[in-house]
Amino acid sequence: MQIHLDQRPVEALEGDALIALTFEGKANERFKDTLSDVFASGEATGKIFEMTLVHQPRGLKVKRLLVAGAGKPEKFTSAELRCVAGAALRHLKAKSLRAVTILLESNFAGPDHVAAAVEGAILGDYEPDRYKSEKKDVKVVDRFTVAVPGGGAGLDTALERGRAIADSQNLTRDLVNEPANRLTPTLLAERARAMAAEQGIECEVLDRDRMQQLGMGSLLGVAMGSAEPPALIVLRYRPAAGATGAAHLGLVGKGVTFDTGGISIKPADGMEKMKYDMAGGAAMIGAMRALAQLKPPIPVTALIPAVENMPGSRAQRPGDIVTALSGKTIEVINTDAEGRLILADALTYAKRLGCTHLVDAATLTGSIVVALGHVNIGLFGSEDPLSEKVLEASRAAGEKMWRMPLDDDYKEQLKSAFADMTNVGGRPGGAITAALFLKEFAEETPWVHLDIAGTAWLDDPKPYMSKGPSGVGVRTFVNLAMNWR
Ligand code: BES
Ligand code: ZN
Ligand code: ZN
Repeated sequence: MQIHLDQRPVEALEGDALIALTFEGKANERFKDTLSDVFASGEATGKIFEMTLVHQPRGLKVKRLLVAGAGKPEKFTSAELRCVAGAALRHLKAKSLRAVTILLESNFAGPDHVAAAVEGAILGDYEPDRYKSEKKDVKVVDRFTVAVPGGGAGLDTALERGRAIADSQNLTRDLVNEPANRLTPTLLAERARAMAAEQGIECEVLDRDRMQQLGMGSLLGVAMGSAEPPALIVLRYRPAAGATGAAHLGLVGKGVTFDTGGISIKPADGMEKMKYDMAGGAAMIGAMRALAQLKPPIPVTALIPAVENMPGSRAQRPGDIVTALSGKTIEVINTDAEGRLILADALTYAKRLGCTHLVDAATLTGSIVVALGHVNIGLFGSEDPLSEKVLEASRAAGEKMWRMPLDDDYKEQLKSAFADMTNVGGRPGGAITAALFLKEFAEETPWVHLDIAGTAWLDDPKPYMSKGPSGVGVRTFVNLAMNWR
C-alpha cells in the first residue's frame, strides 16, 4: 500500500473514496449540503465505526464519500482516529476500492493525527493470511492518502513515523502468527537478525553453551524438554550523538515459541493458541525495528529469551531446583509457569548489560485475563516514576493499561521449603505473584512488567483490525523511548 500526503483542497481530490469523519450529534459541516439527505434520514448518526457510503457525491471528483462515524467529539483523540481510519479502510477494502483518501481538518489535522491515520490504515490493512492458498486479500487498497488541505508543519515526518511504527507492529503480528513448527527459537533469532541487518542495528544471539557458561540455570531449565535449542536474542540501538543523561532502556520480552506447559502439561483444548506465547518478545523486535528508524535519544537494548516449553524426556520436573543467573535458587513447582523462569535470567542479564530502566512484556498468566479481560494490559511497577512514564506512553499510543498492585504481602505465596522461592504462588492473585517473582530479579533497578496475555491475541475481529495477533505493546515502547526525558 502506497501512502501519500495531499495538501490540495477537497474539491481537487481524486480516487475511489474519500473518508469524512462525522461526529455524533452534529452533521459534518463541510459536507452539510452534499450529505443533507443522509443526515436527515438518520442513516448517518456519527456513532463510532458507523460507515455510510455515498455514491457520486455532488461537487467532488472522488467517486464515493464514506461518512465515517467518529463518536463523541469530546472523546475523539488520535487514539480514536487510529481506529476509525482502520475501520474505514477495512470497510472500503471489502468493497474492492483501491485508492482511498482520509480527510483531516481543523483540530484533527496535526502531526499526531496524520501519524495515527497512517497507523490505523496500515494496521487495518493487515490480514494474518500468509498460509492461505486463496488470500482473503484479493481485494487490496493500493493507495492510501491523508488529505490535509493547506498542509502544516511536520506532516511529512509524521507520515513517515506512522508508517515506521505500523509496519513494525505488523512485523510483530507476523511473528506472533507464525506457528511453532515454522518459528522455533532458532528461527525467531534468525528473523531478529535479519531485521537488525536490514535496519542497521546490532544483534547478538547467545546459544545454549554461552548461557551455560554464564549460569542461566533458570532459563535453561525450561529449554530442557525440547529438542529445539534455546536462544537469548539481544538487539542493541545506540544513539549517534551524545545520549541525554545516563538512562539506558532495557526491553525484555517473553519468547516462548510454544507453551505446552511442559511436564505440567496443558489441556488439549485451545492449546494451539499457545504459539502466541512469544508475543512479548515479538513486540520488542517490532519496537526495535521502529526505533532503528526513528532514532530515540537514549540507548535501548532488547532482550528476548526464546525457548520452546515441551515435555520431552529430558524435561525439568516439578520439584526440580534450578539456580538462576542472579544466584537465587528456584523450586519449580509447576513447569507451566515457565515465562517467569526465562524472564528472570533475561532481567538479570539486562542489568549486566548496563540497562538502568527495565520494561518487560509477557503473555505471563491466565490470571490477568480473569482480572482485566481482553481490554487492558496489566501493568506492575516497582516505582511510580517509570510506571507513570509507561502509562503516559501507552495513552498516546492508544494501548490501554491498568496498574495492578504489587504489595510485598503477596510474597508469602512464593515461599519454598527447599529453595529461595517457588515459581508459583497459587491461584489467588496469580498475576501479582508472577510479577513479584520477576521483581526479585529486577531487584533495585526501576522496572515495569506488562502482562499481555489478554491483549496480544484477538479471538474476534475488531472493526479496525483482523482477528489474531494484535501486536500490542509496540507503539507504547516506541513512544516511551522517543519521548524519554
Ligand atoms: N503462557 C501461559 C499464560 C497464558 C495463559 C497466556 C492464557 C495466554 C493465555 C503461562 O506460561 C502459564 O501457563 N501460566 C500459568 C501459570 C500457573 C501455572 C501458575 C497460568 O496462568 O495458568
Ligand atoms: Zn506456561
Ligand atoms: Zn507461557
